Amino acid sequence: MSILPRGIQPVRKPLASGLMALALLAPPSAGAQEDTGKEAPAKDPETGFVMADGWKIVKSNCTACHSAKLVTQNHGTRERWAYLIHWMQDTQGLWQFPEDIEDTILDYLAKYHGPKDEYRRQPLPPEARPDNPYKQVTGTSG
Ligand code: HEC
Repeated sequence: MSILPRGIQPVRKPLASGLMALALLAPPSAGAQEDTGKEAPAKDPETGFVMADGWKIVKSNCTACHSAKLVTQNHGTRERWAYLIHWMQDTQGLWQFPEDIEDTILDYLAKYHGPKDEYRRQPLPPEARPDNPYKQVTGTSG
């Protein structure tokens, strides 16, 4: 039964620490599932902005004229956001920013509203869509 020479008692410690190790394995794997929220810090309930570096500057400068949704529903590169900001400054009365403030805003937007391959959902198949009251009846003449 035992491969140990007679007279030598098996040391219990390895078994005990083996069980300890097994017991310790459980919490990290359980914790890993909760970690999925790691990349998603809390969002401001008022605007939906991710409350990360720079968000208050974005909130105070980007929600005066239009809903924050116009910001949060858009995605783009840093260059795209810079273009949009300059467009609003040139044509929509958006004020000028000191360079560091503009950098903070662009860093934030590029990070949390960066480009997405596909941010529009796929259209629903026709049978899953609501009725279209304006649908043309085609194929009949007269
Ligand atoms: C001075 C007013 C004003 C401020 C402040 C302002 N915007 Fe705008 N923004 C506008 C106007 C006007 C439009 C056009 C709205 C429309 O198309 O109905 C617009 C449109 C947009 C659009 C939509 C662009 C598109 O492709 O149609 C985005 C995105 C946007 N703004 C982001 C921002 C961000 C980010 C900030 C903060 C840096 C900001 N806005 C601050 C006036 C402003």
